[in-house]
Amino acid sequence: MSSTPIATRPETTPPDGSDPRCIPHKLTVPLPVGDACSYPAYSAEEHAVWHTLYARMAELLPGRAADEFLTGLAALQLDHEKIPALSAVSRQLHRTTGWQIARTPGLLDAHDFFSHLARRIFPCTDYIRGRHELDYTPAPDCFHDIFGHTPMIMHPRFADFYQKIGQAALACRDPQLEEGLTRIYWFTVEFGLVKNPGGLRLFGNGILSSSGETLHSLTAQVEKRPFVPEKAAAQPYDIWHLQDVLWVVDSFDQLEREFVRWARSHRLL
Ligand SMILES: [Fe+2]
Repeated sequence: MSSTPIATRPETTPPDGSDPRCIPHKLTVPLPVGDACSYPAYSAEEHAVWHTLYARMAELLPGRAADEFLTGLAALQLDHEKIPALSAVSRQLHRTTGWQIARTPGLLDAHDFFSHLARRIFPCTDYIRGRHELDYTPAPDCFHDIFGHTPMIMHPRFADFYQKIGQAALACRDPQLEEGLTRIYWFTVEFGLVKNPGGLRLFGNGILSSSGETLHSLTAQVEKRPFVPEKAAAQPYDIWHLQDVLWVVDSFDQLEREFVRWARSHRLL
């Protein structure tokens, strides 16, 4: 296991609980969805951080990011210079796969998060990390959420798979099974690889919103295994270090099919 601290660590609560962005919110009122998400008064510096992160990742994507991710990113037409409005991204998603975006104040309680996915709503932050956190932030921010997550939700098969993850999580009552589901989520949504005609490519949002993970994930230092839900569910991961084992799906049809098979075998779908 590498001991190098890595870039963006999404959906993570630091051991000392010191970062308020990492304390999961338990919702008491519904989140605003779609056009109800207002656009914050961002500072020039916040837009500049978005621009820096976007430019840095855009350079790394060719030959590394999955065709499906690049297609989604191109169709979203995200602004490179300014932080996009959640309402505008939500409209694009809705037109394409029927998903919408809800504005979340930060990390959500797991049940609240999955209940949104189950309804084809992606909870998304609208604040951005500071310039001192370009390479590392333990909290989700809108670069991770918008740039990392939303391009894949433009893909019809991935979009259906993502909803089924939410539905299966809501049906899950067994803590051990929940752990397995969390690992499947981690190794696909956040850290998944896919076979493309050009070779192995990245689609995991945790990889594609992090320059460190993007550079690391396709190297020989990482063992790549064919995706089998039972095996991914049994594979522990270390959220504080670069990954040393990743899973490869043949296609997003296969990902959805295999996940449904696994979930049905545990009566989660
Ligand atoms: Fe994420």
